[in-house]
Amino acid sequence: MCVNKIINFKRGLLQMAAAATEAPKWKLNNGLEIPALALGTYLGFDEHGVMTSTNKQLRDTVVSALRLGYRHVDTAAVYQTEAEIGEAIAMCVANGTVRREDVFVTTKLWNTRHGRARVAEALKDSLKKMRLDYVDLYLMHWPVALNEDYSFASIDYLDTWRGLEDVQRRGLARSIGLSNFNRQQVARVIKEGSVKPAVLQIEAHPQIVQQDLVTYAQSEGLIIMGFSPLGSLVSRFGMEAGGPRVDDPTLVEIAAKYNKTTPQVLLRWLIERKIIPIPKTVKQSRLVENLNIFDFHLTPAEVATISAFDSNKRFTFPSFWQNHPHYPFEKIKNPIRDPFGRK
Ligand SMILES: NC(=O)c1ccc[n+]([C@@H]2O[C@H](COP(=O)([O-])OP(=O)(O)OC[C@H]3O[C@@H](n4cnc5c(N)ncnc54)[C@H](OP(=O)(O)O)[C@@H]3O)[C@@H](O)[C@H]2O)c1
Repeated sequence: MCVNKIINFKRGLLQMAAAATEAPKWKLNNGLEIPALALGTYLGFDEHGVMTSTNKQLRDTVVSALRLGYRHVDTAAVYQTEAEIGEAIAMCVANGTVRREDVFVTTKLWNTRHGRARVAEALKDSLKKMRLDYVDLYLMHWPVALNEDYSFASIDYLDTWRGLEDVQRRGLARSIGLSNFNRQQVARVIKEGSVKPAVLQIEAHPQIVQQDLVTYAQSEGLIIMGFSPLGSLVSRFGMEAGGPRVDDPTLVEIAAKYNKTTPQVLLRWLIERKIIPIPKTVKQSRLVENLNIFDFHLTPAEVATISAFDSNKRFTFPSFWQNHPHYPFEKIKNPIRDPFGRK
């Protein structure tokens, strides 16, 4: 086991030396393009709530990422990372690393700001923090509307969707989409909305394959973004759900065949399934490693082997909202309490 870890580590180091490239771009259903790899920027949580960046660590990470060739950054109002991302983009535009139009910025509307009339104001707050005139993609983070005190709000996500359509019409968001919606909810937005969502962002790693939802959304022309792509390979704030580790023999064997690491194999597995991975890292060597996934392919058999880890287990599982009428996931017997003590 230890040997495999060392091999993975050495491969990572070797790849640092290799020049990173840009991810390919995929066509959205509105004709625009989206880079097929995004940098995740959620820093996690502790007992006090969402963790924030210290000493501009995230800003510096985004600057490094843009220098290396990343062209897509994923954030959300609730991550509290928008300001540093905006600072990084401004720095990179000023010094000529990129032009604004080279960078695809995705952010998300938080649950406490649902309702058609309130969406534009929420997006303007995000834009102000990021020092941008527009985002490339604005997602509804959850179909679940909450009041300021986190009690349930009775706002239909369809009403909120109309607000996203409004901000797209006004040019504040080039594309709009959904996150953490289930199949029925996606279908309803497609049927009753005026604009078809361009993107659906969902949890996607070997333990939560969600092939039905993926196949359905892709057949409707939506691009899927996959969050927490490294699944159980990495530490999850103490959460345990079984699943393959970084030294899993099956993954190690596939990785060795392509001279890649097991995290790279998982990211590539998503690409083979036409899903945009959103790996988060604040480490330079891992930025390089996670971008270096576009020079090899997995066979259909290898894709199937990795998909066979599926146990339908989520890490993002806010069961404390499960009695909300628009909660998207399966309910469980003993829902957990909101870790931040909110209602
Ligand atoms: N829509 C939603 O509701 C939702 C929910 C969750 C996440 N997201 C988005 O998806 C992004 C990614 O999800 P995530 O942050 O949960 O999980 P992730 O990207 O699968 O995993 C992140 C963890 O893996 C480590 N890591 C990164 N690359 C690695 C590598 N090559 N080898 C070993 N460890 C590595 C990181 O540590 P270091 O930073 O120390 O390298 C970090 O602890 C988020 O940042 C966010 O942008 C969206």
